[in-house]
Amino acid sequence: MSLDAAQGLLACPVCAGALNVADRPASCRDGHRFDVARQGYLNLLGGPQPEHADTASMVEARARVLTSGAFHAVDAALARRTDRARTILDVGGGTGHHLARLLDTLPGARGVTLDISTAAARRAARAHPRAASVVADAWGTLPVRPGRFDLVTCVFAPRNMAAFARALTPSGLLVVVTPEPDHLASVRERHGLLGIDPDKDDRLLRSASGHFQPVARHRVRSVVDADAALVADLIAMGPNAFHGVPTEVEPLTTEISVSVWVFRPAQAQMF
Ligand SMILES: C[S@@+](CC[C@H](N)C(=O)[O-])C[C@H]1O[C@@H](n2cnc3c(N)ncnc32)[C@H](O)[C@@H]1O
Repeated sequence: MSLDAAQGLLACPVCAGALNVADRPASCRDGHRFDVARQGYLNLLGGPQPEHADTASMVEARARVLTSGAFHAVDAALARRTDRARTILDVGGGTGHHLARLLDTLPGARGVTLDISTAAARRAARAHPRAASVVADAWGTLPVRPGRFDLVTCVFAPRNMAAFARALTPSGLLVVVTPEPDHLASVRERHGLLGIDPDKDDRLLRSASGHFQPVARHRVRSVVDADAALVADLIAMGPNAFHGVPTEVEPLTTEISVSVWVFRPAQAQMF
């Protein structure tokens, strides 16, 4: 069961003590207990998931897009920046695809994918034998033990920089993937989808300030010839899906265009 990959890495969301996931239910020394879902993920959210959490149909659309290989260049870029990681936390990890592809390149490593969506967590629980899947809110106190991860990844997902810094070892790395203005531009233009915030680079650097220093930025671009089904899934996997997915779509050539940012902790973390 892939949840075992998280042994020694998770913290009780109630008392912050070490969470033992070797037994079922998972428990801490103070006796707080958490059932493991029969699909293999651990829900540490402590309440119902919010309405903005990705739905099952969004997660399935994202899974088909990722399986198509459309984001292969992004996975390759992530792997190039992270070749020494042993313990990985992927925040807003969705289907678990990116963590799984990283673990494929890192034979001795293990990881935790954390997402607020139970539909995503279900899918992520079977993404890789060395990846544990946890439901939690990235904006809360992350249910992970401080200083246990040597890599935190965040791909198109919420960035809680203070929590990421706390999760990392002092020599760890944070790798963030953000969309560039021309990311999926032809799909967004053709279907009137939400644009990319022009201020997003500044916002990223401002949020990192005091916690991390940027050490590299790599631009990744690849062209995708998307058939109609893939175009529909590219729309259905994102926030536009909350407003409905167009029924009539045509094949489009589009561009994957992202930045892969690498950050180091600003200073050694005190625990
Ligand atoms: C755009 S998707 C990216 C998923 C994945 N990183 C990928 O690239 O395939 C954003 C993900 O963040 C998750 N998410 C949104 N808000 C969150 C929160 N507050 N805490 C944890 N995950 C969150 C969503 O459920 C979704 O799976």
